[in-house]
Amino acid sequence: MNGKKHPDTIHSPNKRARRGYQSDASFRPAIACVGIDFGTSRTGFAYAFMDRQDEIFCREPGGQEPGKTLTNLLLTRDEEFIAFGSRAREEYYEGDPSALFFENFKMLLNEVDGGSYPVVSALNGREASLRTVLAHSLKYVKDEAMATLNRCSAVEIKADQVKWVVTVPAIWSDCAKAMMRKAALDAALIKEETSQLLQLALEPEAACMVCERENVCLRAGDQFMVVDCGGGTIDITMSCVHSCNPLSLDELAAPSGGPWGSTYVDREFEKFILELLGEQAFNCSKESVVWIEVLRTWEAVKNSFDPKGLAKVAFSNLNGGVQGGMSMGTGEGASGRSGGRVINLAPLLVLNNLQLEPLVQAFNQKHPDKPLQIRMMTAVMLPNELIMSFFAPVLRNITRHISRLISSHRIDYIFVVGGFAESKVLQENLKFNFEACDRRIVVPTRPSLAVVRGAVMFQLSQGERFRSRIARFTYGCDILEPFDPFDRRHRDRKLHFKTEEGKMVPYVRIFNPLVLKGTRMSPSFEVTQAQFESVEDSQDMCDFDILASVEEEVQNIEDAKTIGSVGVKLKAGQEAALSLSFGKTEIQATAMNLTTGEKSRAVIDWGFDSV
Ligand SMILES: Nc1ncnc2c1ncn2[C@@H]1O[C@H](COP(=O)(O)OP(=O)(O)OP(=O)(O)O)[C@@H](O)[C@H]1O
Ligand SMILES: [Mg+2]
Repeated sequence: MNGKKHPDTIHSPNKRARRGYQSDASFRPAIACVGIDFGTSRTGFAYAFMDRQDEIFCREPGGQEPGKTLTNLLLTRDEEFIAFGSRAREEYYEGDPSALFFENFKMLLNEVDGGSYPVVSALNGREASLRTVLAHSLKYVKDEAMATLNRCSAVEIKADQVKWVVTVPAIWSDCAKAMMRKAALDAALIKEETSQLLQLALEPEAACMVCERENVCLRAGDQFMVVDCGGGTIDITMSCVHSCNPLSLDELAAPSGGPWGSTYVDREFEKFILELLGEQAFNCSKESVVWIEVLRTWEAVKNSFDPKGLAKVAFSNLNGGVQGGMSMGTGEGASGRSGGRVINLAPLLVLNNLQLEPLVQAFNQKHPDKPLQIRMMTAVMLPNELIMSFFAPVLRNITRHISRLISSHRIDYIFVVGGFAESKVLQENLKFNFEACDRRIVVPTRPSLAVVRGAVMFQLSQGERFRSRIARFTYGCDILEPFDPFDRRHRDRKLHFKTEEGKMVPYVRIFNPLVLKGTRMSPSFEVTQAQFESVEDSQDMCDFDILASVEEEVQNIEDAKTIGSVGVKLKAGQEAALSLSFGKTEIQATAMNLTTGEKSRAVIDWGFDSV
């Protein structure tokens, strides 16, 4: 077939909108910069004025503290806004039980692959679109940020005089990141989706700016890892310092991590309550507002939990694979401390008409190694062994993952940031496993605010910090090739028949790679492939579907997802080329007719307009 490739115009699944970058309609110089860390469990914002860039302030939305508030949203049953943050939790607890209370919804964003927004379940089981929930939440944070800026400014500041930075997990798909931009548009942070007043920053990359400025003086050649330990994910980036002042970095590997954040420790606690109360009572409790109160108490226990003096036993057991629980002493725990580990179960017992004593007896019989003690008739004191077992699965996953990463890369510093990084258990675990004479673990003073402060620093520092990045996926397009029974890639593929000179010729649709996963890319990286021609004489357009896959070598086209499309006019006998260029956050695809010189460009659109 003369090495020619035929873009598959016949089986393009869906044609997506094509858009180019637009400039902001009414450009005015920015007066301030606001970073929003919209986390799975906590949300905060930070800001700086352009004329005083050294002073970065953090604020809890709805409060005065330099912190983050809960990512909780309360809507009326007609989906009107009531409250966001800890206020949402309090109002739900005190108010109308038919209102819609949402938490932990950010993680759903990474589960979509382009079709439509998923629905989110409220605590009472009612559902709403994730788009609505995100828009209300971001709008609240934006309004809070604008009110804060205006409180301390002599002139009135409008949203389009602010440079916005919204942080996203580095391990998110490009698609999930694009949804965040849409949410920012819905919340009126920006007026056009492509506005350059909004920048998305990767959470660990933003945090690394704070670590670098405050904690260590990095030198050229140093290699470091940033571990962002949040509520939902552990998000890891690894970089090598190319040069300092200004800091310029090479990415050592594509970001990685997993769903091992602090809320997974909470899930283990929930499993414990399920076992203690039984399924029926547990389900009934979870739908009730009193459940929120139990979680609040557990949060306090979790956050203050300190396994001091027990780390050696605990963590070496963990590395050996803690299947059967931790052996860290008995009764009140080897530390002998008992305060701060009591959970009041009275509301759950009343709700379900249960007595605590038989429940505790049954639990202790099954788990003599981590016995519960009853306090004041309706509360239980959790032994250290039990609390450690809630942490064990996430610690095990984090340890395994970091071990794998440092076995293939020299790492001089591990910066640990995020709210979960405040945990003594996590800090001790990382120190025990990874601190060495040539490797330091560094936790900044307020690790939970490193991402949001770093987001502002990231935006203010202007230039691109990264000299090179690693491709997260294998990118390519689909083509039709004449069927070759001796070609491994063609075996067991569905055949498409075309009429050529009166004969039926079989073709197969295959994945044609353009960029392989793991390829090192500079900020202006571009790849072009030519020799595409149309299959049918009657064809007058050449449409390329752009595909991405997590596989490095894509054997089956079904392993790749369509992420966009671009087309150009092309008649029989003419040749087309396709280019992909990788900017900071989006991919641009260009189709060219090499015979006529005509070009068409598309910023990959993820196809959410169907919502
Ligand atoms: N001392 C502590 N021990 C254990 N967990 C903690 C502690 N302090 C805070 N956390 C947990 O950290 C989480 C909040 O951290 P952070 O604000 O970094 O997460 P997030 O940004 O909401 O999540 P993500 O980055 O995954 O989207 C909460 O789940 C909270 O319970
Ligand atoms: Mg976070």
